[in-house]
Amino acid sequence: MPITARSTPNIALIKYWGNRNDGLRLPAADSLSMALNTPSVEIIVDDSDVLDIHSFESDGRERRMTMKHVLRFNRHLELTKQYLAELGSPEAIPASVSITIHSAIPPGIGIASSAAVFSCLAQAYAGLIETERKLSREEISVIGRLGSGSAARGAFDGYVALEAGTGDAIDSAKAVPVADDQHWLLYDIIIVPSRKEKEYGSTEGHSLARTSPLFPKRVQEIPRRQRECIDAIRTRDFEKLQRVAEEDCLDMHEVMRTSTPSLQYLTRDTRLILEEITVYRRMKRLPVLYTMDAGPTVHLFCPAEAKEDVLHFAHEQQGCTVFVAHTGKGAHVIN
Ligand code: DP6
Repeated sequence: MPITARSTPNIALIKYWGNRNDGLRLPAADSLSMALNTPSVEIIVDDSDVLDIHSFESDGRERRMTMKHVLRFNRHLELTKQYLAELGSPEAIPASVSITIHSAIPPGIGIASSAAVFSCLAQAYAGLIETERKLSREEISVIGRLGSGSAARGAFDGYVALEAGTGDAIDSAKAVPVADDQHWLLYDIIIVPSRKEKEYGSTEGHSLARTSPLFPKRVQEIPRRQRECIDAIRTRDFEKLQRVAEEDCLDMHEVMRTSTPSLQYLTRDTRLILEEITVYRRMKRLPVLYTMDAGPTVHLFCPAEAKEDVLHFAHEQQGCTVFVAHTGKGAHVIN
């Protein structure tokens, strides 16, 4: 019986950058994110004799799957089988599967599409094997992580931590819930200055993190930042959240910039938006924070009372595309 799952991106407030084990996507440090309510991805999986993958845009057009994409899904399926074998259910998942992806997320523009896709796929696999073995949300997060590190966090609703753990065991890093989507409604006003796909994807970027002289210091600072971020979320302290999230985001971009080769994801447009939002929020006393992933896209997080002003600011940015999302749920089966 085919299973359909749905998921959405999650955006990190404490960023995941760099692994201790690239093959298993075991992160070098903890991270923390908020699930968005939109845009969503739906994936249908079913038994199949051979791995068969099709991906469709929201207008129904089929997206070309490159060899690199197919290999990534294939490796993810193999790692999922390895993990299930370690859980004592080696036969749970069929020899191969068909995967049909319907995504409303434009790829490569900084809206965490791999996090949404692999958290969705992990959930769909969990649905497919449910009669053989029921997986916990933490186990689903491990399967998501094997496809994309940030996808681990898509296994839970709302605010989610990815605990890096230690060692090289396949399940040594997993997500844990911090607060659900009802706890604190925050908006993410997303400003996309460029729709050009990036040169270095995050998978390549993670493996370069350790070439930065700033990386060891970053790894050392994260436990404190993670604690402060969890505390800010639990107490709904926006000022504290802003301080720690912006500190961490700028630090990650410094690590990227000082890697060899240097990764400069932020563009002149990004810097202009940051300068302007800094002036605008001071002038209007607005609770709004910025964060950027591996690309020029700016995510402006704010509580409901600041939404209209932040939206107004976003629409004033010339030549940019604006998306609006807010706190949402993690991956779930829809039928
Ligand atoms: C900058 O999870 O996209 O968005 O495992 O190679 O898919 P892969 O990496 P990915 O890395 C996310 C990097 C980030 C920060 C974050 O989301 O924590």
